[in-house]
Amino acid sequence: MDWKINNIEDYHAQYDEALNSPSEYWAKIADSFHWKKKWDSVMSGSISSSDVKWFDGAQLNITENCLDRHLKTQPEKEAVLFVPNDPSEKETRYTYKELHEEVCKTANMFKSLGVKKGDRVCLYMSMVPELLISVLACARIGAIHSVVFGGFSAQALAGRIEDASCNLIITNDGGLRGNKTIELKKITDEALEMPGCASIKNVIVHKRANNEITMKEGRDHWWHELISDVSSDCPAETMEAEDPLFVLYTSGSTGKPKGIQHTTAGYMVWAAYTFANVFQVEENDTYWCTADIGWITGHTYITYGPLLNGATTVMFEGVPTWPDASRFWQVVEKYKISHFYTAPTAIRALMGCGNEHVDNSDLSSLKVLGSVGEPINEEAWHWYNEHVGKKNCPIVDTWWQTETGGILISPLAGITELKPCHATLPLPGVHPVLMNEKGEEIKEVEAEGNLCIKNPWPGMVRTIYGDHERFKQTYLSAYDGKYFTGDGCKRDSEGFYRITGRVDDVINVSGHRIGTAEVEDAIDQHPDVIEAAVVGYPHDIKGQGIYAYIITSKSASNEIEKEILTEVIKCIGPIAKPDKIQIVKGLPKTRSGKIMRRILRKIAAHEFSNFGDTSTLLDPSVVDEIKNGVL
Ligand code: WT7
Repeated sequence: MDWKINNIEDYHAQYDEALNSPSEYWAKIADSFHWKKKWDSVMSGSISSSDVKWFDGAQLNITENCLDRHLKTQPEKEAVLFVPNDPSEKETRYTYKELHEEVCKTANMFKSLGVKKGDRVCLYMSMVPELLISVLACARIGAIHSVVFGGFSAQALAGRIEDASCNLIITNDGGLRGNKTIELKKITDEALEMPGCASIKNVIVHKRANNEITMKEGRDHWWHELISDVSSDCPAETMEAEDPLFVLYTSGSTGKPKGIQHTTAGYMVWAAYTFANVFQVEENDTYWCTADIGWITGHTYITYGPLLNGATTVMFEGVPTWPDASRFWQVVEKYKISHFYTAPTAIRALMGCGNEHVDNSDLSSLKVLGSVGEPINEEAWHWYNEHVGKKNCPIVDTWWQTETGGILISPLAGITELKPCHATLPLPGVHPVLMNEKGEEIKEVEAEGNLCIKNPWPGMVRTIYGDHERFKQTYLSAYDGKYFTGDGCKRDSEGFYRITGRVDDVINVSGHRIGTAEVEDAIDQHPDVIEAAVVGYPHDIKGQGIYAYIITSKSASNEIEKEILTEVIKCIGPIAKPDKIQIVKGLPKTRSGKIMRRILRKIAAHEFSNFGDTSTLLDPSVVDEIKNGVL
């Protein structure tokens, strides 16, 4: 890859080149991939007309770039290293040759059930290699994968299946996480009973937990049985550059989760380019991203990014604190991990478990550390730097979103000067701008405002599945001709960026995005709930916790609070469970009926002054009542 950035001068030169002649720049990058047919135009369409296209006219298959391409040069290199939940269980390794074969067989297995190009396939699985293999198998035959995180409830799963009308779902009998078994097949069965899931014709069950499940005749198939008699020869489907590659659901400030749709060529180039430049992985390195493939981080930086670069990617099935808080460090030591990419919430949780775990492990193999998912606080940054990196490993604080496909603002490991808690500088091809309250672009270098991106980049979301209007409304309408991120951001005098967090009604709980409206809707399902308002508040480990103010028709009791929690778990999943529930008599509403969330956020954070202008409140006395009852 002659485009790999090697030093800071090179970065600045490439940044300018990508800004001034984007088509030439990205054509040069794209040239290093395998195409069935090259593009007619590198970039076309625009943010204003919400029809951005990259490499239009080109044909390709992303799996040929992830797999076949490496068969010629490094068939025996380790592609995937699977580390099981139980430390006493042996790891599994797949060379590029073996992974290629498994993907082809799995693709043929999907085909044998009638799956074809353009079909949507739902993957509701735990972190086993067959999940990564299924992702690539879908891409091999042009089916659009929709991975649903294994922590979501039956109802949440059903909603996602219905929205994309998937016709096949792959699941596990159960998922192993710490000392728990997640009943994935049972939850799938429940989901498929719900109205709206009739599109599912087949269920493939991969055996992992050996727990008891029921198989429905004619609908359910065992993975190991189906795969036993398929061929390992599966030519890669020809895909157009802008054919959808996958849909991944994420929460917004309103309504139900949105199916973020990424397309083939642009996403591929962005995943590969950002992985190579941010992490600077070398030939014999072992790279470990601790995310779950159910989130975008696992799509781009466990699966596609590393494999496109021919790297060795680790898949970890377990949790950071089981059997004890040394698990991550034990894995680093045992497998000589060179690159370690995790979330601030995990760092904070492990930091709280005492230094002996990390200090007693041999972490000398580490070269680069990464952080993703939420702003990293000063204390966690320094602990990560000192105790994990031994002040010897650059920390790449990578800012991006499900919608951006890959990293947009981040240091490049070993190249960019670091500044704690700063995502630092944009990657080539990314032009961030800060907007003031009047909706104008702030010209001063040192500034704070809402973060927008001024230009299209290859990995950019193209639409919301089935709802292009909502896509335009959500991302492209707030600021004319710009992509709005939903994040607030500061820029220092050197032009370094620091993300301050969401400015909309989205909360970031342990790096997971949760819409307040979604949680409110779930709480409203309880028959005794009259109204609910949900906000985020600072939480030591999770970053943000969920605080629910609820008006009930019955008086407050432990019973009703428990039932409300159950309701949320049923509708969304345990990740959306409120940390605090305050039963209130009224909510601070304006005369026009709008809840003043700003006041609720302040009270939840125990800030009891500077509520701002409250003159439009219908009944100012509710504020005192809420304040007095704060948890
Ligand atoms: C939101 C996107 C990026 C993949 C995982 C989350 C926050 C993400 C950082 C960071 C500060 C960050 C933002 C963003 N975020 N990375 N390095 N520093 N904030 O993807 O679920 O789509 O969430 O996560 O608020 O908007 P996501």
